[in-house]
Amino acid sequence: MHENVTVVRHPLLQHSLTILRDQESDTAAFRRHAAITASFLLIEVTRNLHTKPVEIVTPLTQTTGDQLEERLVIVPVLRAGLALLPAAQNILPDVPVGFLGLERDEQTAVAREYYRKFPNELSDYKAIILDPMLATGGSIEETIHAVMKRGCKQIIIVCVVAAPEGIERVMAAHPDAQLFTAAIDSHLDERKFIVPGLGDFGDRYFGT
Ligand code: PRP
Ligand code: URA
Repeated sequence: MHENVTVVRHPLLQHSLTILRDQESDTAAFRRHAAITASFLLIEVTRNLHTKPVEIVTPLTQTTGDQLEERLVIVPVLRAGLALLPAAQNILPDVPVGFLGLERDEQTAVAREYYRKFPNELSDYKAIILDPMLATGGSIEETIHAVMKRGCKQIIIVCVVAAPEGIERVMAAHPDAQLFTAAIDSHLDERKFIVPGLGDFGDRYFGT
């Protein structure tokens, strides 16, 4: 496996992922466990962010603390990426958010863009792209192009389930990108759905 691909492991994450995979899980359970999954992923994704020392004064004395020094932008891929956004905003409360709306054509599995709204200035920013399903990799590739066009230099991809085909495609095109996932599954079926997967994440999360 590529050195920049990390499979995040934690017993509670595996537990939640199993509930996401189970076709018997209803919308409420799916949302609850998507949120837990997202929290574990985001903690891991942010583990190696850089900080700089800062002098502060506590109510008792002066001391040195650490301050995040990276310029970050969070980019959820609509719709399903919205499921990972609250966890990202919880731990990165002051980080701007850019949106890209993509929808796969049901026949061709090729993603079509229908919405784009990014912060104005993203030169040299690190983009944290949120999309729970990495299938063919087409949606993530589109998203990487879009944020790089706006000036982002470093890319972190956060997904819940990834297919080997999608990982190959994205990492071949962007070997410096970092990818975090809760699972690498077996393969894509003839409709380009991930197997064993969990079905259509967006439909299950939003109850459509
Ligand atoms: C799903 C998923 C990813 C994409 C992955 O979105 O959320 O964005 O497919 O497939 P790919 O790797 O083959 O591009 P979908 O198009 O179903 O839209 P949705 O998020 O609105 O459900
Ligand atoms: N999008 C999904 O939601 N699920 C898949 O298996 C593939 C793409």
